[in-house]
Amino acid sequence: MKKTEREPLLLGIDLGTSRTMILSNRGARATVRSVVGYPKDIIGVKLMHHSHMIGEDALKRQSYLDIHYPLEDGVLKEANDQAAEAAKLLIKYAIGLADPKPGDLVYGVLGVPARASMFNKNQLLKITSELMDLSMVVSEPFMAGYEIDQLNNAIIIDIGAGTTDMCAMKGTIPGVDEQVTVLKAGNYIDLVLENLIRENYPDVQMTNNLARKIKEEHAFVGEPAQEVVVNLRAKGKPASFNLTREVRTACETVVTEIVEHLQSLIMVFDPEDQEAALANIHLTGGGSRIRGIETLISTMMKDYGNVVVRQVPDPDYCGGSGALKLAMELPPQYWEQVGHISKSVK
Ligand SMILES: Nc1ncnc2c1ncn2[C@@H]1O[C@H](COP(=O)(O)OP(=O)(O)OP(=O)(O)O)[C@@H](O)[C@H]1O
Ligand SMILES: [Mg+2]
Repeated sequence: MKKTEREPLLLGIDLGTSRTMILSNRGARATVRSVVGYPKDIIGVKLMHHSHMIGEDALKRQSYLDIHYPLEDGVLKEANDQAAEAAKLLIKYAIGLADPKPGDLVYGVLGVPARASMFNKNQLLKITSELMDLSMVVSEPFMAGYEIDQLNNAIIIDIGAGTTDMCAMKGTIPGVDEQVTVLKAGNYIDLVLENLIRENYPDVQMTNNLARKIKEEHAFVGEPAQEVVVNLRAKGKPASFNLTREVRTACETVVTEIVEHLQSLIMVFDPEDQEAALANIHLTGGGSRIRGIETLISTMMKDYGNVVVRQVPDPDYCGGSGALKLAMELPPQYWEQVGHISKSVK
């Protein structure tokens, strides 16, 4: 079949530090952990029957695989061929989850962090040009704003694993001054929590993965609704620990930073629009699930008048859905005006 006979397969891709989401105009909606594993040695090759593994499959086989996270703080690790190769495998795998048929034209919109450099965008577009017929990269928080129809007098805050991206929506494609990337997000909270538990309970065996699990179950800021009591192992024996203080302190580190940046970001709006923008703040990304975060941000901003912070309805897929929505609503000939594009070199 010739490539033009069927409707193109349109994709929205949110390439995250910890997870990659893909959605298509044919109803695909899938997630893969942003991880690629290569066998450490010949035994690994024999056990695996493949040259590499992607996502959870790779994580489960960590003992005999070298694990690569091709994205660091949400962007491709710069000037690193192996990261580029791993990113290509990851994106190719994600596209596969959307089930393209032979002969399909594949057009994709990908989210990149607000601060991604031109070099980084070009590196990514070079990869996507080998995998899709047409691709465009756009700023991640802008995609989230597009998804929830908040393109004017709004602020989007995307709390991911590697970065917190903040974007002032002013009715146009956001420029560099309207976007801020903070390098404190979920991974940073995990690290702080891990260290606090190690310091306060030296007998407890704590790992980064365990700290992340505790956070994902109990994350909160502000006054606790209930105590955080967790069963852990101290010197090999099970025991329960009250980690309320540690969880709260770790989660609040990120909020302080967000509020500081919010206070500067608000000034990119005209003074007469600032009231409307402050009453229209939207949180997305995995970190937006921290309990009490909306209230704490608005309380810390109380000197600024009425500040309303809400969580988007579907924080995991908001960016990816926005990317797909953009791909479906914007005719491809206009893509170049909205983001950076590359055409197929397949
Ligand atoms: N219930 C929860 N409470 C707090 N944090 C959570 C919760 N669930 C997930 N997270 C955290 O959210 C982060 C993942 O969010 P998300 O998938 O938006 O990140 P990402 O897009 O992969 O990263 P980035 O946008 O930085 O590239 C992880 O740090 C994860 O631990
Ligand atoms: Mg993200």
